[in-house]
Amino acid sequence: MIEIIDVYKSFNGKPVLNGVNLTISKGETLTIIGRSGEGKSVLLKHIIGLLKPDRGRILIDGEDIGDFNTRQMVELRKRFGMLFQGSALFDSMTVDENVGLGLREHSSFPEAKIKAIVKERLSQVGLVDVEHIKPAELSGGMKKRVGLARAIAMDPEYVLYDEPTTGLDPIMADTINGLIAHLQNTLNITSIAVTHDMVSAYKISDRLAMLYNGKIIFSGTPDEVKNTTDQVVLQFINGRAEGPITGINS
Ligand SMILES: Nc1ncnc2c1ncn2[C@@H]1O[C@H](COP(=O)(O)OP(=O)(O)OP(=O)(O)O)[C@@H](O)[C@H]1O
Ligand SMILES: [Mg+2]
Repeated sequence: MIEIIDVYKSFNGKPVLNGVNLTISKGETLTIIGRSGEGKSVLLKHIIGLLKPDRGRILIDGEDIGDFNTRQMVELRKRFGMLFQGSALFDSMTVDENVGLGLREHSSFPEAKIKAIVKERLSQVGLVDVEHIKPAELSGGMKKRVGLARAIAMDPEYVLYDEPTTGLDPIMADTINGLIAHLQNTLNITSIAVTHDMVSAYKISDRLAMLYNGKIIFSGTPDEVKNTTDQVVLQFINGRAEGPITGINS
């Protein structure tokens, strides 16, 4: 279980997270929605300790990660897979080296087994015979899928997906949504996704939570979101320029 308790974060005096409270249960798939620049990626980075809150706590299975030493943090990260928004692949490494990075660093599997796992993960995201290629030679959507293969390579308990389907064609997006759902159903993985793509959000989520003005202002099942009367949520999910959300947040 992940508990985000009253988390505040500012950058250069500008508040981004303003008292975020959110709990994600074991086995649940939660999607965070919200406008560009609201702090969704910042929130995900807090969950794996890449950013530290100015105030508030993050508990993973009851333990406050703010108290963790370096070794505990390394152990914690092994239990998490993360798909970064820009994929964050290492340009100097091949696809095989990128996807197998965690396995080569943290497992004692023989090289042949690691290669086989990498191949399997790549095929799960619809990629074959790309192991020897460098990220620069891949399309944006292919990079995203390699990032996804890397996120799930180590059989994580928790996977954080930052915009898993952005930039993919609709058919590939549906395949990736299917994969996320499959991981949850078969491996009982707990997932947190961030997306603007409402089709995907409804499809993969047990629950959606909306981040607005630095707080979670709404959380509910896909049906509850569709039937909400909350004007902020309605404006966002229907993509209307008119409504309570005004101006450009930067
Ligand atoms: N490391 C950082 N240093 C300074 N400011 C940052 C840093 N990371 C994020 N920010 C700022 O925090 C705010 C929220 O950024 P974030 O990337 O979380 O937005 P987002 O909701 O993920 O948006 P998008 O949907 O466009 O990805 C932005 O104003 C951004 O400039
Ligand atoms: Mg983001």
